[in-house]
Amino acid sequence: MSVSYMTHPLIKHKITLLRKETTGTNEFRQIVEEIAMLMGYEALSDLPTTDVPVKTPIEETVQPVIDGKKLAVVPILRAGLGMVNGILALVPSAKVGHIGLYRDPVTHEPHEYYCKLPDSIEERQIVVVDPMLATGGSAVDAVNLIKQRGGKKIKFMSIIAAPEGVSALMKAHPDIQLYVGCLDRQLNENAYICPGLGDAGDRIFGTI
Ligand code: PRP
Ligand code: URA
Repeated sequence: MSVSYMTHPLIKHKITLLRKETTGTNEFRQIVEEIAMLMGYEALSDLPTTDVPVKTPIEETVQPVIDGKKLAVVPILRAGLGMVNGILALVPSAKVGHIGLYRDPVTHEPHEYYCKLPDSIEERQIVVVDPMLATGGSAVDAVNLIKQRGGKKIKFMSIIAAPEGVSALMKAHPDIQLYVGCLDRQLNENAYICPGLGDAGDRIFGTI
């Protein structure tokens, strides 16, 4: 597995805004989407292209296009939903799957409640999105579910990660590519990322 840490100052700046306790739901949601788009630009830099004929006002030529229909974006519910539109802004014809997982508040173990993926998943480039990679339990399970259904080419994008989550995902799925906006210090006793940004799902959807 390769791990890429984002270095662009725009991404760093926006992650700092996300962390602020005073950032409200509306702004938080908007910034998550913007970061997803900026990270998506990096993560999709190896999308394959095919050459097609194009007639410009001057002459006929052959030029590259991407096949957006071959891309599947898969948010881990709920918080991953906040990143989907950022990727779709780049590749509007991408298909969207959904994986529903929640962390048990006491054991911190993930529990699956939903999984629906686009057809021909085995042929697609899959980008799993979730703003938080904490213990890594949710990420590992999400990738397991995708692989059980035939998914092969998998990238995982998280805005903030703990070292524990990166290690767990690398160990369980050495074949995937991981993109991390910022690597934080550690988990606390409740398995929250420090300094982190709190509960991403609650901050995106305005729940407590
Ligand atoms: C959060 C987050 C990840 C998960 C990360 O979701 O969005 O999915 O926790 O933690 P882990 O790496 O320790 O598994 P949560 O389970 O709180 O659900 P929500 O998005 O519905 O709030
Ligand atoms: N899930 C979150 O939303 N935040 C954390 O810090 C850890 C898990």
